[in-house]
Formats: sequence, C-alpha cells, structure tokens
Amino acid sequence: MTKMLISTLLLMMTTNVQARQLPTYLDESKPVEERIEDALSRMTLDEKIAVIHAQSKFSSPGVKRLGFPDFWTDDGPHGVRPDVLWDEWVQAGQSNDSCVAFPALTCLAATWNPEMARIYGENLGEEALYRDKDMILGPGVNIYRTPLGGRNFEYMGEDPWLASRMVVPYIQGMQSKGVAACVKHYALNNDEEYRHQVNVIVSDRALHEIYLPAFKAAVTEAGTWGIMGAYNLYKDQHNCHNDVMLNQILKRDWQYDGVVVSDWGGCHDTEEAIKNGLDLEFGSWTDGLMMGKTNAYDLYYLADPYKQLIKEGKYTTKELDDKVRRVLRLFFRTTMNRQKPYGFLCSESHYEAALRIAQEGIVLLKNEKMKALKNETLLPLKQPKRILVVGENAIKMMTVGGGSSSLKVQREILPLDGIRDRFKDCEVDFARGYVGDTVQSYNGVTVGRSLYETRSASELTAEAVEKACQADVVIFIGGLNKSNHQDCEGFDRKEFGLPYGQDQLIEALVKANPRLVYVNISGNAVAMPWLAKVPAIVQGWFIGSESGEALASVLAGDVNPSGKLPFTWHQQLNDCGAHALHTYPGTWREDYKIIDEEYKEGIYVGYRWTDKQNIKPLFAFGHGLSYTTFKLGKVIADKTQMTTNDQISFKVNVTNTGTCAGAETVQLYISDKEASVDRPVKELKAFGKVFLQPGESRDVTLTIGRDALSFYDEATHAWVAEPGTFEALVGTASDKITTKCSFELK
Ligand code: BGC
Repeated sequence: MTKMLISTLLLMMTTNVQARQLPTYLDESKPVEERIEDALSRMTLDEKIAVIHAQSKFSSPGVKRLGFPDFWTDDGPHGVRPDVLWDEWVQAGQSNDSCVAFPALTCLAATWNPEMARIYGENLGEEALYRDKDMILGPGVNIYRTPLGGRNFEYMGEDPWLASRMVVPYIQGMQSKGVAACVKHYALNNDEEYRHQVNVIVSDRALHEIYLPAFKAAVTEAGTWGIMGAYNLYKDQHNCHNDVMLNQILKRDWQYDGVVVSDWGGCHDTEEAIKNGLDLEFGSWTDGLMMGKTNAYDLYYLADPYKQLIKEGKYTTKELDDKVRRVLRLFFRTTMNRQKPYGFLCSESHYEAALRIAQEGIVLLKNEKMKALKNETLLPLKQPKRILVVGENAIKMMTVGGGSSSLKVQREILPLDGIRDRFKDCEVDFARGYVGDTVQSYNGVTVGRSLYETRSASELTAEAVEKACQADVVIFIGGLNKSNHQDCEGFDRKEFGLPYGQDQLIEALVKANPRLVYVNISGNAVAMPWLAKVPAIVQGWFIGSESGEALASVLAGDVNPSGKLPFTWHQQLNDCGAHALHTYPGTWREDYKIIDEEYKEGIYVGYRWTDKQNIKPLFAFGHGLSYTTFKLGKVIADKTQMTTNDQISFKVNVTNTGTCAGAETVQLYISDKEASVDRPVKELKAFGKVFLQPGESRDVTLTIGRDALSFYDEATHAWVAEPGTFEALVGTASDKITTKCSFELK
C-alpha cells in the first residue's frame, strides 16, 4: 500500500516537473492563442521571415529550433498531385504518389448533394494525409461567368448559393482530417485569358451578390484555414496583395483568422505584400535555376527584401507578427496537431467515394421517346446485342493534363473499358471517329495507351458510319479534353462549338443510325447544333478514376441519374451576358500591360441573365432528367408574413410516380416583387435532394431567413431586406417551376 502511494506521489512529481518545463507553445492544455504568442516571442527575425515564404515549389519551412516541422502543400482540387522536384515543375518520379482521382468539381456541384461534398473532402483529406501534405490547394469556387472559361471544370458553377452549400462541407470534411483547405482563387478569376494582367471592374453589388458568397461561406461557415489570392487585379491591385479584398473584406469584415497564400507567382510587390494581407508567398518567378542564382527563395518579395525594409526601419514587425501568428495558427491546426488520424492512399473506400460522386453528378440532359423504339426512350439501354462506341474521349485519360489539377492516378477506368465490362454479353465495337489531341502527358506523367492515328478525317468518319449502320445503339463519347484552349488552366476556349469536326461526325452518325447517345465529356457547355436530331444526351464531366464504370452504370440503368446542371447551358455564346455585352476578354490599356475587363452584366450572370432577357437556354440551370418521373405537390408556407428576424419554411410533397427508384432535387427560387433596386427575376435560395422508391412520397421542407431576401446595398455597403411581397417559386429546374406562393416581409 505504502509502496503504491510513494510511486503515485513520485509520478505526480515528475509529471509536475515536466509540465513546468514544457514551454507554453508545446503545452496542449493551453489555449492555442497563448501557444501562438509564446512561440512568436521565441522566434528570431530570420525565423519569422522564413516561415512566410516558400523554400521549394510546394513547401515552406517550419521552425526547426522550436520543433515546428516543414509545411507541405499540394494541388488540388480533385486528387493529390504527384510530387514535383524540389525546385522544378517536372514530376519527381516517385513510385508512391499515384492517387485516386475524384470527379472534377463541376461534377460534384452537379450532385446538388452537400453530403457528397463532405465525403469528397474527407476522402481527399485522407489521401493528402498519407502523402504527408498539410494543405490541399482547393477547392475552387470562382463563378462560371462564360462557357469559355478554361478552368470552369475546377469550380462549382454559376450560382453563388449552390457553390456556397457545396464548398462548406468539402472544407469541413477535409479539415476534419487535420488537412487545411486552401480555397481558390480569391477573387474574380473567372476566366484564364491574360490571367496575370486582367484588371476586373465590377460593381460592388455583383461582387458581393455573385462573386464573393462562396468565399464568404468558406470563411465564415466552414472556417477554412487557407485561402489563395488570385492572379488577376481588382481596383488596379493584384489580388494576392489587395487592400480591399484582403484587409477590408476578408480580414476585417469576415474576421478571417487563417492564412492568405499567394497563387504561384501571384505576388509582385514587397510593400503591397507587407501591407495588404499576404501571409505566405509561393511560386514567385525568382527561380534560382533560371536566374543562375542559388537559393532564390531568399529573393522572394517576402524574404530578404522584406527583412531589409525592417532593418532600415521602414517597417516594424507589426505586420510581420500578424502574418507569423497566422502561419503558427496554421501549424497548430495541421503539422502540430497530434490528434490527426492516419491517412490512406488509393483505398477501396476512396474509389467507392469517387464512384458514388461521379454517378450522382452525371446529368441526363435529354432522353426523348423514339417512335422506332415503340415510344420508349433510348436510355437506359435495353439489352442491346451490338453496341458501337465512337469517339476519342472513350479512350483518352482525362486525369492527365489541364494544368495544376493534373494527376498521376493508380487507375482510371476509361469509358470504352467501362462499357465493355458492363455489357459483357454483347458485342461492343469501337470506332475512333475523329482525332483530337493525341498528347497524353503532363509534367512528365505519361499515359499507357497510344492515341497515335494515321488515318484521315474522312476515313475515320467512313469507318464510324459503316459500323454505326450495323449497331443496335451508337454511344458517341466526345466533347472537350484537357489540352490547351479546351478545359485547361492558363487558356480559355477559343470557340463555343465542339472541336475536331465532331459536329459533322455526329450529324453523319445520327443519319446512319438514329439510335445515338451523345455523352459529352467537359467542364463547360458546348454548342449543339444537332440537338433536335440526337435522342439522348448525357453530360459526363471529367469524373476521375472511375469514369468508365460510372458512365456505364448510368447508361445501363444500374444507377438512375440524378445530377442537375450547376450552370446555364446556352444555345450560343451571345446568349451569355458577358458575351452579349462584349465585355470579354476586355480592353487593353495603351501600354499593353493591363487589360480591363468590365463585368458590364453586373449581377446578371447565368440564369439571372437569360431570365431577364427572356432567352431560352438549351438546358437551364438546375436541369437534369431521371429514368423515373416525379410529381411535386403544392407548396405550403408555414406563414404568410414574416419579419426580418423570422424564418419561413416551405413544404412540398414529392412523389416518385415512375417505375424505378430515383432522386429529385427540389429547388426554391425567390422573387422580389417590390424593390427599390433592380432585382433578378428569381434567385436560388434553398434546395433539397430526396431519394424515393417507386410510388414513395415524401415532404421536403426548405427554410430561409432574411438573407435569402436581401440584396447588397451599394450606398450603405450592407445587406438589405426590404419589406414587401416576395414569391417562393418551387420546381425541379430553373425553367421548371411547378408551384409557387407569395408571402410578405414586414
Ligand atoms: C494555379 C493554382 C495552383 C498553383 C500551384 C497555379 O498556377 O493557378 O491553382 O494551385 O499553380 O500549382
């Protein structure tokens, strides 16, 4: 007994001594802010300067003397990018960095299912953990303003509300694994052409109502630990050190406590970077190898030049300490977080997640009843005996290319392989049909299958047409790819139409065999001059590792499609506000250094523009068909009047009236009937996805508050909900409003 007492006492004493010796910054029982202050007080000027800029392409140093490890970032946003060399973009050639590619973010947005975004973030976070990455450079939430935008596939569509609902769970899921998200590109990086020189001119109202809400949600709701400044300028200042964007909006108004990371090479000026809110500089073009200098990272704007200004007395350490505090906070959230779970790479659960998201995001755009099929639809395929697959995108890997989101995957099931595997009992033939881009490598990552082709376009068409005549069904898998001027970073598309002569090929095929399914692979809308002739159209996005399996399962009807478009699919380019008003790509200034791009359409982006102009799109925002049918009942509000402190709920009953299980997304748009300012015809303010068995009915309740009724008042710089009449419009697409009701705001 005495022995036990003595050992307990001894243990208590040693623990006490240890606790006393443990510096505050290492003491996990202490509040984080106290630990940050303690660490800061122990750091030298050199150590402080070191942690606010890169030491390699994707890492920044920790504080070795104090036990803070180096900090590693990586792209993002669809999978963990393969490692590159320390100071070069080319891949390092590791054998342990093959990953799972998750569907591109347009596909995620098309699920209209925040639960999918949570799963996405968690699974990608686990892959990042395994690869020892502390921050993933994503997700991207720049608004889809023009279908020419080269990086739209990396973003979440045109609607600020949809993007906000989807970005929050992605971040929460990822950060629950102890991996920081870095939301990008803040802000107004809505197209790629001249992205380093574009100065965006936009009204305050459009900025706050359209372009900022998803970033704001990422900060104020999801609590993102990282945000990436965009390349372009706003109010003549680069966004990586922009007073209004970073100091005023992000850090003052939204109370952001995380780190602002520069886009790679987005920092241009030491003093602006000091004063205007940049915290962590990456990728500046002071590459030692190119400039013939060693350790060029010391030349970064926030490295020696900053230290020099402090030494000269031009700056105190006030701004520096704020940056370092934020970086230390990031360390405590990531590298110093000992509660982090273990990561996994390429686990079956990650493939399952990638597959589920892909299947839920695929959009059935058109599925017309055909006389030749006794008034049945072509999809899902009804036990065909001979399938002909046509198109380069059936055999092209799409996870390689497109810029920084390019990946090195452990596997990518190509559409042709997926279809062959699913339809084992039938004859599946293939015809190339057209030649697009045969290059299949990016930064040293190459793809196994050769796309080399010697036959001419007419030979390829002739072969495809001949085979089409023999087939029960033709599945054309075409669209865009990840090459320059397609869906690719650094460039925009040059045309709205399909490239590589695909339109002519589709016309020829449908003439030979009207049972044609067109599967469009892209992150953007494309022109479809042949739309009326093609009975079935599927939007297949870039859906990552499980592409082939996901597509085949939808075509076969194993999965009932439930994706909805996250953007308006225009008939022609000029149906889009940015193009109708000739605002894209902007006007060069006389010195040809800056190009001003004025967002003249203001808040009228996407369906807000087509609604206002009464333009019929090819496919509306929120559109997406199913193999079953749904009936929406009458919407019932829980009150007819509300105050600005109230909420109002709308209940609508949904019934699956068809013969197979499926999911429908109920969309609630608000229309302001009396306003002192011009307001959109309607705006999405809530949605809910419901899964129903045949014959099953369920109520969906959508609740909104004053935010959903407000506009951004430019005079007072505040959100205003004006009293008056509003209308709640409920439907299954922005052009399919089936029930509505009015209510008053008192
Ligand atoms: C892209 C970023 C990316 C970074 C690092 C930049 O060119 O704009 O989105 O995260 O490179 O690869």
